Amino acid sequence: MTERANRKEQKYLRLLLHLERMIGNEADPIAIMATVACEVYHSFKDFNWVGFYRVTEKNLLKIGPYQGEHGCLSIPFERGVCGAAARRKNALVIADVSKVPYHIACSPKTKSEIVVPLLKGKKVVGVLDIDSHKFSAFDSIDKKYLEMICEMVVKSAGNRTGQTSPDSVI
Ligand code: SME
Repeated sequence: MTERANRKEQKYLRLLLHLERMIGNEADPIAIMATVACEVYHSFKDFNWVGFYRVTEKNLLKIGPYQGEHGCLSIPFERGVCGAAARRKNALVIADVSKVPYHIACSPKTKSEIVVPLLKGKKVVGVLDIDSHKFSAFDSIDKKYLEMICEMVVKSAGNRTGQTSPDSVI
């Protein structure tokens, strides 16, 4: 592993511990997502937009807590990198968004992107979307740790008793 990759892993490990401590027994999904968006955004200088989209009705993603410039309010499953990740139930790492015809450009400054689904069992309840103004800002290390962070979000939010929408725990 290169020194740069090693530093990134160490940073994610510290971030995970920090998030676990901050979230604690919190079960409110908005409180959890807002905290995660804030902490992830401020941990990496190349992350220019960090936020959640929630499945609020069948095949529809609606903006959740985020950090960065304006984010699109709604994304149907058939559109965007977010929609593709939600449909496929897989993380998507896009090195150059201009090469992806279905990418939705909320900001013309975005060059690369990663989208990680929030999975509750086999059900997609949302996605975590991160944009960068740099090309190829994301790799398999980001994917691995952001998937762990998404698991933490779903697990913590799943501890709550009430639900605002039958299609979503988020
Ligand atoms: N680029 C995303 C849209 C959301 S914004 O980047 C915040 C997409 O293609 O789904």
